[in-house]
Amino acid sequence: MFANLEPLGGDPILALMAAYRADPSADKVDLGVGVYQDEQGATPVLRAVTQAEHELLDHQTTKVYVGIAGSEAFNDSMQALMLGDGHAAVRDGRVTTVQSTGGSGGLRVAAEFLNSIRPGCRVWVGTPTWPNHRPLLSAAGLEIRDIAYYDGATGTIDEAAMLADIEAIPDGDVLLLHGCCHNPTGADLTLAQWRAVTELCLKKNLLPFVDTAYQGFAEGLDEDAAGLRHMAEHVPELIAVASCSKNFGLYRERTGALTVVTPTADSAAATRSHLMKSVRAMISMPPDHGAAIVAQILGSEALTAMWHEELGEMRERMRAQRRDFATAMAERGHDRFGFIAGQYGMFSLLGIDKAAIDTMRAQHHVYIVGSSRINVAGLTSSKLPYVADALAATLSV
Ligand code: LMR
Repeated sequence: MFANLEPLGGDPILALMAAYRADPSADKVDLGVGVYQDEQGATPVLRAVTQAEHELLDHQTTKVYVGIAGSEAFNDSMQALMLGDGHAAVRDGRVTTVQSTGGSGGLRVAAEFLNSIRPGCRVWVGTPTWPNHRPLLSAAGLEIRDIAYYDGATGTIDEAAMLADIEAIPDGDVLLLHGCCHNPTGADLTLAQWRAVTELCLKKNLLPFVDTAYQGFAEGLDEDAAGLRHMAEHVPELIAVASCSKNFGLYRERTGALTVVTPTADSAAATRSHLMKSVRAMISMPPDHGAAIVAQILGSEALTAMWHEELGEMRERMRAQRRDFATAMAERGHDRFGFIAGQYGMFSLLGIDKAAIDTMRAQHHVYIVGSSRINVAGLTSSKLPYVADALAATLSV
């Protein structure tokens, strides 16, 4: 069975993470994998998370299975975090949420669910997108098709091309959207654009499938969910996936939630049974620890306030780094990077070619994803001038 297997290339983002770790240079800078870094370049456990873990350890009496859908306290809190308190669809009982193994696990369960009710259905994805969207969704059997999204010349969304492409999607297909902090471009839909896309979804009977992996990293928890909430108010059906990896810093705990809005309370109950069938067949049940931490934080006013403060610190730091990097490049004679200051979340595309990306790594030990994506959190005050010098030197060759 295995004797003639050929080795496969590594995942582009995770292979870069391994290459960075193996680089002995003292100058090395990690602008690769989407993990938050503080001013010291570390990714510490959030204070709210540590305190919640202490409380859990003090009170936990058993490790018995929780269940296929995971923790209901977690699911309810995540539903409110995404859709807001008192959302009409929640009030009407038209929403169901199950715990997932990270955002990726939620995407995959949603894909398995879709494929089980409509085998091979098409999912339309704006380009570029997170490189793992394609393998993750197609491995479940879905067919991935591209639509226009980003205009590299302006660093913004090509609205006319995107809307024209959505208009041309066959009726009844699935449309994948990034809730906020678009990965890899940092170019988010404005509320007006969310409204326009919502109207097209209604007109074309498209199913929106919203991946929200960075809620709270752009402008604030509610602000970052405004587009999704608008959509969930107006369309009869919607899938939304949330990750707790970045905003709670729970990366390795693999914590996320999959929410489905359905037309009626009865269809929500039926949908839940289908989701649970997919979860049971794939992983039997999700792990508990990360979800228990999130439920502990969101169930406590004090811990929630602490978390909001820490999330705000991360967000404001990344916004400042965006501005500082654009300024540093302008000071070095490259004012075309001004668009980075106007984008959101962790990522932006530098728009440099492969040779320049390779030079940044080989000569300056600056690790950038092959699409020219940088993680702005890696631009700490001590590293930022070095990266700006390296990029200016690379571009002047
Ligand atoms: C990223 O895009 O860097 C993160 O979402 C981590 C990953 O799994 O790719």
